Amino acid sequence: MTLSLKAHLTGHIRAGNIDPALALVLETVAANCLRISTLVSKGALAAIIGSAGTGNVQGEEQKKLDVISNDLLLGGNAWTGALAGMASEELDHPHATGFDDAPYLLLFDPLDGSSNIDVNVSIGTIFSVLPHKTGLNPALDEAYLIKGRDQAAAGYCVYGPQTTLVLSFGHGVQAFTLDRENGEFVLVEAAMRIPAATKEYSINASNQRHWEPPMQRYISELLAGKEGPRGKDFNMRWIGSMVADVHRVLTRGGIFTYPRDRREADKPGKLRLMYEANPMSYLVEQAHGKATNALENILDIQPTKLHQRVSVVLGSAEEVDVVTSYHTAG
Ligand code: AHG
Ligand code: MN
Ligand code: MN
Ligand code: MN
Repeated sequence: MTLSLKAHLTGHIRAGNIDPALALVLETVAANCLRISTLVSKGALAAIIGSAGTGNVQGEEQKKLDVISNDLLLGGNAWTGALAGMASEELDHPHATGFDDAPYLLLFDPLDGSSNIDVNVSIGTIFSVLPHKTGLNPALDEAYLIKGRDQAAAGYCVYGPQTTLVLSFGHGVQAFTLDRENGEFVLVEAAMRIPAATKEYSINASNQRHWEPPMQRYISELLAGKEGPRGKDFNMRWIGSMVADVHRVLTRGGIFTYPRDRREADKPGKLRLMYEANPMSYLVEQAHGKATNALENILDIQPTKLHQRVSVVLGSAEEVDVVTSYHTAG
């Protein structure tokens, strides 16, 4: 028997595991991801390929699909009455919905893996749902500066050979694949689990000369393989879309890292805490993996800025422990 996302959420409402407002938020996000997926699958036919000719607050050039996905998620999620506001990688400041006393806030990386759009490689949408503290203005950054540990839900939708939605609201991690003919996300994995041990790692090795000494040590030990201190061979995979690299880690284990490096003393890493690191770390912990900034658990970091960046080390627990111990030793 197949179970749709809607049926799955309804079952959890009845069990008292999720409140109807949060379920509505998740269902609405999924419906909008379905629309993005349709555009992605059409590519040049839907005029979504190429640069938008604009830049974002991150200092990046925006692709057409970055802007289209952002607008679609903003417009498509505003109506539920369950969200007081939304924040996005592509917006300087949050967007208030007008429902000032609504219980939740939605944060998203509307399109992750921008450099892979034009070359037909997996990309995705990453999202985080935070509680909205009554009294805090949802149009101001401060309302969103909440630790990842306090997320009400998090997830992503990967647009690959299949479109798959992966989410958690604190009861494990479930995956739903889009049945395009029926316009429905169907449960394909009820409890994703990251094995503690792995032989696969994921890092942009072109930055090697900039890494700090503990990361240099860790990767050189993996490269030494069976003959080195780790006593086993490791394989490497780097897609260049965090969403796809983390999906692989959630599916079969592995360690993914985008470390801080010595070029950017004022910029601790490339990835964004609120739109990328927090939601992915929540999923990874729910799937029995670990996620740190090489020093402490990402979910315990108190955000100070909406567009804050962070060093990311996540995935199979044994490897995350090794990397973290190299950084905290001495
Ligand atoms: P985005 O496309 O949302 O700006 O994020 C891109 C990020 C992330 O998806 C990926 O892990 C990383 O950038 C890739 O960086 P490299 O270009 O160094 O491979
Ligand atoms: Mn970007
Ligand atoms: Mn991203
Ligand atoms: Mn993005």
